[in-house]
Amino acid sequence: MQTLYTNIKELLQVRETLIEKVSGIDMAILPKIDNAFLLINNGIIEEYGSMESCPKLNCETIDLTGKVVLPTWVDSHTHIVYAGNRVQEFVDRINGLSYEEIANRGGGILNSAKKLNETAEDEIYEQSKQRLEEVIKQGTGAVEIKSGYGLTVEGELKMLRVIKRLKENYNIPIKATFLGAHAFPTEFKENHADYIEVIINEMLPQIAKENLADYIDAFLETGYFSVEETIKIMEAGKKYGLTPKIHVNQFTAIEGIKACVQNGAISVDHLEIVTDEDIEVLKNSDTMPVALPSCSYFISIPYTPARKMISAGLPLALATDYNPGTTPSGNMNFVVATACIKMKMTPEEAINAATVNGAYAMGVSNEVGSITRGKKANFIITKPIVSYYQLPYEFGSNLIDKVVINGSEFK
Ligand code: NIG
Ligand code: FE
Repeated sequence: MQTLYTNIKELLQVRETLIEKVSGIDMAILPKIDNAFLLINNGIIEEYGSMESCPKLNCETIDLTGKVVLPTWVDSHTHIVYAGNRVQEFVDRINGLSYEEIANRGGGILNSAKKLNETAEDEIYEQSKQRLEEVIKQGTGAVEIKSGYGLTVEGELKMLRVIKRLKENYNIPIKATFLGAHAFPTEFKENHADYIEVIINEMLPQIAKENLADYIDAFLETGYFSVEETIKIMEAGKKYGLTPKIHVNQFTAIEGIKACVQNGAISVDHLEIVTDEDIEVLKNSDTMPVALPSCSYFISIPYTPARKMISAGLPLALATDYNPGTTPSGNMNFVVATACIKMKMTPEEAINAATVNGAYAMGVSNEVGSITRGKKANFIITKPIVSYYQLPYEFGSNLIDKVVINGSEFK
């Protein structure tokens, strides 16, 4: 079954090879073809090129005059499986409490953990699938999802089983990350070692047995998991084949990035605070730095210093961090716009960061992230626009006409 899309105004992120990641210097370039065609066969990108070389085929043909086509967004960092919401904490913060003060009163992650443990798996699945469908309609065609609101053996397994069901029922690349080390449950507040034992000796073996996770994560941060504790968790995860993918440098820089790189992390995420030493460590590593600008926006913390990192030659990925506490939004269009507006990334850099580099950060470069022969036909068709610059420029508008997943419109 072939479909030929013709007269595309701009076909973006066109790459010849299954390129893995785009470095700081190369992020300035967004390969594109003006007045292009795109040929899809059985849900896979078969061919593309300029209209002058468009093949004459007897197949379904769709005219996209005036429209821009780009690969779907790759959201390499989310927590979309959760129960209920934390809307009261949002109002508390407006009234003056900080994220930290709310957490210290038993709110924050522990509040979500309480709700999650009280909610049935089917109900969590229903709530989560609505969020997943919402973000696909907003142009996301691959997503990483974390556990971390269970913080009990049963709760963590429940979350990961929900992610497994989402993988089974939605035909986009989904990766599962085990984040048992998201916060210390109240009963372990004074006894971190015992909770880490539960993670390593009770949660991990069962997760591995049921094959429920691809990556292992920890919230490496002052007041949460120390560098030493995180190293223990990364090492334990690796024994079960889980690659580290770590929350680090959100509020403080405590040499956590170094530990992550040394342990072969596929990505280090948040990075609102980045030191010169952190940048040196990331250079020549295989670890992708991931920025989460919607989180900075929502809880009013610094933005990841993208310019400083890109000038140093580092690649950068962008993701949403969709979660009930710090980022109740999974809209990658807003992430791209905010990266341009607040982090001074160019539209080319932001689109590279939200597609090809996002794919690297969640290990799906061979399937998505660019318009490349052999990759999945997951792409966004915009409404008629003058240039892709309008995507970040018109930051509150919905410029997406259709989202195509495996060659079919997602409705
Ligand atoms: O990535 N920073 C750690 N974890 C989440 C937020 C957790 C929450 O408040 O529920 C994050 O921002
Ligand atoms: Fe997160």
